[in-house]
Amino acid sequence: MNLAVLASGYGSNLQAIINAIHKGEIRANLAVVISDREDAYALQRAKDHGIEALFLNPRDYPGRDAYDRGIIEQLRLRGVDLVILAGFMRLLTPRFVAEFRGKIMNIHPSLLPAFPGLEGVKQALDYGVKVSGCTVHFVDEGLDTGPIILQEAVPVFDNDTEETLHQRIHAVEHRLYPRAIQLLIEGKLRLEGRRCFLGAT
Ligand code: GAR
Repeated sequence: MNLAVLASGYGSNLQAIINAIHKGEIRANLAVVISDREDAYALQRAKDHGIEALFLNPRDYPGRDAYDRGIIEQLRLRGVDLVILAGFMRLLTPRFVAEFRGKIMNIHPSLLPAFPGLEGVKQALDYGVKVSGCTVHFVDEGLDTGPIILQEAVPVFDNDTEETLHQRIHAVEHRLYPRAIQLLIEGKLRLEGRRCFLGAT
């Protein structure tokens, strides 16, 4: 299976995926890493591992739909089967979702459906929850609304800042995301409506 990772920033989840591939915990080829930001450290991580790193500048396209068509074209050229969003800070268009339905995953730093969208960690802290966490889910047309694949709780401590809480959530993400990806590769994710069950398809 050919994977693509789409990332806008630091790329620690990308790194966890690369490490998992090296260890044989994800059995797939990472064909390309694509970013909407030229300065995304994720692109450097890809290059450091000999993986193709592609910056697609949204300003080079007349709008969101054209930009997403540009990404789809690059994915098709490389025979990508599964699209992994790892800190990709753009909402995909319905066209993109339709092209790869059931083959796009995202990770989000909260227990969805709580605190979707931007700054999930800050939203949880500001709200005052005692438990937050992270969610791996399939991507649909909504904002962080697709069927949930895996979730894990992370406690919120009284002295937490956004940074300390995000750090603990990141540590869990790095374990959860590779696992979810390998489950899909092995055909062990079964969808019934919104509910995703672990087991043979
Ligand atoms: C991760 O915590 C991920 O859950 C979050 O961005 C971070 C990216 O970190 N994604 C979202 O907030 C998506 N709405 P990374 O670049 O180090 O992997």
